[in-house]
Amino acid sequence: MLLLLLLLAFDASLSRAALYKDTSQPIHARVQDLLSRMTLEEKIGQMTQIERENATGSVITKYFIGSVLSGGGSVPAPRASAATWAAFVDGLQDGALATRLGIPIIYGIDAVHGHNNVYGATIFPHNVGLGSAGDPDLVKRIGAATALEVRATGIQYTFAPCVAVCRDPRWGRCFESYSEHPELVKAMTTIISGLQGETPAKGVPYVGGSSKVAACSKHYVGDGGTRSGINENNTVGSYKRLVGTHMLPYFDAIDKGVSTVMISYSSWNGIKMHKNRHLITDILKKRLRFKGFVISDWQGIDRITNPAGANYTYSVLVSVTAGIDMIMVPYEYTKFIDTLTSLVKQGFISLDRIDDAVRRILFVKFTAGLFEHPKSDSSYRSQIGAHRDLAREAVRKTLVLLKNGKNAKYPLLPLSKTASKILVAGSHANNLGNQCGGWTITWQGASGNTTLGTTILQGISNTVSKNTQVVYEESPSSSSVKGGGYDFAIVVVGEPPYAETQGDNLNLTIPQDGANTIESVCSSVKCLVILISGRPLVVAPHLSSMDALVAAWLPGSEGQGIADVIFGDYDFQGKSSRTWFKSVEQLPMNYGDVEYDPLFPFGYGLKMGKK
Ligand code: GLC
Repeated sequence: MLLLLLLLAFDASLSRAALYKDTSQPIHARVQDLLSRMTLEEKIGQMTQIERENATGSVITKYFIGSVLSGGGSVPAPRASAATWAAFVDGLQDGALATRLGIPIIYGIDAVHGHNNVYGATIFPHNVGLGSAGDPDLVKRIGAATALEVRATGIQYTFAPCVAVCRDPRWGRCFESYSEHPELVKAMTTIISGLQGETPAKGVPYVGGSSKVAACSKHYVGDGGTRSGINENNTVGSYKRLVGTHMLPYFDAIDKGVSTVMISYSSWNGIKMHKNRHLITDILKKRLRFKGFVISDWQGIDRITNPAGANYTYSVLVSVTAGIDMIMVPYEYTKFIDTLTSLVKQGFISLDRIDDAVRRILFVKFTAGLFEHPKSDSSYRSQIGAHRDLAREAVRKTLVLLKNGKNAKYPLLPLSKTASKILVAGSHANNLGNQCGGWTITWQGASGNTTLGTTILQGISNTVSKNTQVVYEESPSSSSVKGGGYDFAIVVVGEPPYAETQGDNLNLTIPQDGANTIESVCSSVKCLVILISGRPLVVAPHLSSMDALVAAWLPGSEGQGIADVIFGDYDFQGKSSRTWFKSVEQLPMNYGDVEYDPLFPFGYGLKMGKK
């Protein structure tokens, strides 16, 4: 009898051993089986996301780490190839597969306008431009292309899309927001279906195969509504306004099956979002029925206290209790693991809360196919940089024509391709880094030839006739322009690259060299000004000098798209995703405000028509 019982028990353990690895089983059953086998240590390891700089296979094995990320600019080697990236990620994965239960890691990165950390990747226009294009299908195609380039490097997860509704352009992250209008941001959540694939069941997190990646709607909630646009600050207002303005895009993101949601550094009515249990658990998880996992921002829990990290035990307690499932630590992971373990063992955090977090993480990992395909697929290697035509199309569609001729009867655009001599001037005419903006190769982005692509000047030179003389001078004097014998000039100026708080700006004037270049050139010859910026800038003082003005936002690597339009191969279709103020004293000022006196209203955009 004893032998029979032992055999039955052994058989049961064997059959149990197969269940979570059995692809014929429903995902919920696989999750529950795996969860039931996990120790507290293994569970807390799953909730821990660490920066790749301090990640090795053995660290992942030892601490059962569930996720690794590349912060902005964090690369395995300068200008690393797709193969180098994939080998690095696969090496970390080996560490995870070597653990008792072999739970694979999920590797996250900010592929927010293409796979922008990676040298040579296609860099798409930033979201503020895509909002002006107003084309949900285009954005979905961009998502699909980005997923392919991310998978080329063996990575399975991107911290995108940002669905912030930027209500004040003084915010350094306004370019990451599709628009000031929640309905337009909502419409752009089609990118999630491009990144992940179409979820088969509304509201169910889904990643459709090895050509897709898990997505992340961020930053929940109210990141774009802070006082004076001060990054990570306080969003004040009623719950109704919070829902109607800032939460609205999450409804669609969740319907589309977004796999993760990242919490905002900011506060709502003085309560830090990273400890806001009502908005995270009661609303996001219960009322909106979000079934993926909630992730903190980078050191987001540390910043619950002021100064950051002042009381880490408190930070861990209130953030995990609030409903955050995975903590982007990213460096002091033993401290996080020890603190959380202690809080659970002392009964301050329930095992139910830990199980909810781990269940969600495992669910995403199963839906992302990580258990069946934990390693990179070399067939995608060639996808890096393989979507430049799509990016060029996107650039064309983002451009907004704000002025065309000092007298509408005499429009300047489309420009002649057969002019005898033209001047191209400005700090952003021949500078790939400037036209890409922040979150490009490095976290902040940088001026110069930081990656591969086509500058605006190169696009112009490619487009005009071989008999047209193109003169490039970054900041010409008015006398040299006057004496130059130019048919017209194209002045390309704007903001230097920036990201996050470094982009907070209270005056929003065109950086001085740009303003001077506009005046010196446009006072001497017919001029088109092309503004490269993450948001509207103060243009009113210079508008009368300009014969034409185009908002090109942050176009990315394919500057050819600008020449395609200004020389008439395509007409403008962009409608501004943002209100253009007359002066910063009017801010915040958004579509629908009672006091609304813009230079150019939300949705404004001219066409050239036929000359
Ligand atoms: C940053 C950003 C967030 C990004 C994360 C990882 O601080 O706030 O948008 O996804 O850290 O790089």
